[in-house]
Amino acid sequence: MDKILILDFGGQYDQLIARRVRSERVYAEIVPYDRISPEEITSRGYRGLIFTGGPNSVYDEGAPRCDPAVLRLGVPILGICYGAQLLAYLAGGTVVAAAESSEYGKTAIVTEPCALFDEIPRESVCWMSHTDCIGRVPAGFETVAYTAKCPCAALCDAKRRLYGVQFHPEVTHTQYGMQMLRNFLFAICGCTPDWRMEDFIERSVEELRRTLSGRRVLLALSGGVDSSVAAALLHRAVGENLTCVFVDHGLLRKGEGDLVERAFRDRLGQRLLRVDAEERFLRKLAGVTAPERKRRIIGEEFIRVFEEEAKRLGQADVLAQGTIYPDVVESGKGDAAVIKSHHNVGGLPEVIAFHQIVEPLRDLFKDEVREVGTRLGLPQELVRRQPFPGPGLAVRVIGEVTREKLATLREADAIFREEIEASGSSGGCGQYFAVLTDLHSVGVMGDARTYGCTVALRAVTTDDFMTAEWTRLPYAVLEAASSRITSEVKGVTRVVYDITSKPPATVEWE
Ligand code: XMP
Repeated sequence: MDKILILDFGGQYDQLIARRVRSERVYAEIVPYDRISPEEITSRGYRGLIFTGGPNSVYDEGAPRCDPAVLRLGVPILGICYGAQLLAYLAGGTVVAAAESSEYGKTAIVTEPCALFDEIPRESVCWMSHTDCIGRVPAGFETVAYTAKCPCAALCDAKRRLYGVQFHPEVTHTQYGMQMLRNFLFAICGCTPDWRMEDFIERSVEELRRTLSGRRVLLALSGGVDSSVAAALLHRAVGENLTCVFVDHGLLRKGEGDLVERAFRDRLGQRLLRVDAEERFLRKLAGVTAPERKRRIIGEEFIRVFEEEAKRLGQADVLAQGTIYPDVVESGKGDAAVIKSHHNVGGLPEVIAFHQIVEPLRDLFKDEVREVGTRLGLPQELVRRQPFPGPGLAVRVIGEVTREKLATLREADAIFREEIEASGSSGGCGQYFAVLTDLHSVGVMGDARTYGCTVALRAVTTDDFMTAEWTRLPYAVLEAASSRITSEVKGVTRVVYDITSKPPATVEWE
């Protein structure tokens, strides 16, 4: 299988680059620039390297730079943004920091003939986000693109197969970005597009069988896509030796617990343990209003319940987790600011000792995980499920969480989802849900004054959940949801629609 190495210099689009490469059926891995030596790059047999962008200037003290020997390995390189500047700098060119040359957003570009720009018109639009730009082009290189402000928007040394672009081909606003990436992968690196999910499933089932033969495997099912797909894959590999504990914390959406149970009861029979822990979680959450405390309590309690069940089941040898690639990459990133502590179910229990931990999905992105789930025959309802926070509805009930509030939210949320799905608007939204605010307001019903609670509806359109736009839902959908919620859900007298994007707001309210 051909592989591309994405050398991470701290850019925000690293994962997007990897996804784009993989969508062309070429396997790509992201490694921080200082965690791999030139020798390892050679021995791992990468077909090509991509240097990512990054927030620094190449001349900054402590700016991330890789060993210049990487340029002499004979492996093709594509530098993007900071990566292009670094390539120029390491090859002996210069970079200039000039406010006049900074560009942001869609920019007209002119490209010259070069393997990277094959089948691309001379004039097109690219997406820029930079201050510094390449100054003197190093010996052996030539300038192959320019914009009004940036005299060297791309450079190449065709003989050594080294290419750099100041713009971002991975961002969809770059008109021919995908064609450029394809040119790099296939014409320049000579990759074969053979990264296929069928092969992934076959390979991992074989490997899991080999490494886990005869051992008892335990997995915490959260009801989310990742742990469900991990369970299905492990079941295919080790069958009877897999036991799943599904901790139902009572904070799931309407009907969700039963959906998970239905999907796995057939496969696992008695080896699926559904623990009804609602009471216990609500007791712990009583009186708690601070969002981060709610998250912590739920995360910790989840692990406690799982531990207790695991102990009752008797010692298992292996703990399986549904960790996916973005979790792996994110946790290796160091000190990015914590906006919210994302509790991912499956944090390690400390009390029970497992001999081994397996994470069969750790190389996959979310869309790939969904594809594996589909191929393994999981219901689409589960596989296509939109992201749902680990702490569940607890972060969608503003303020203290009670059983009554959860019931109100569950009904309102189900109605909103039904209306969106019935109208065919769900395709445009990455996530849509209801929030039960802690705001009461005056209403009127019949001739009587009411004083009920306010439900907020939220729908966002997003690629990656790092940024999100509020979805322009048709008024008819909002109207249907609002009138059904106020008439069918007791105690709700007002419905509002959240029209804030992220940033400045986050997707969730807490
Ligand atoms: P925010 O609210 O941070 O959400 O803009 C971005 C995405 O992450 C989900 N989210 C969470 N997922 N544990 C999770 O597993 C959490 O505590 C959590 N908080 C937010 C959110 O639903 C959205 O998809």
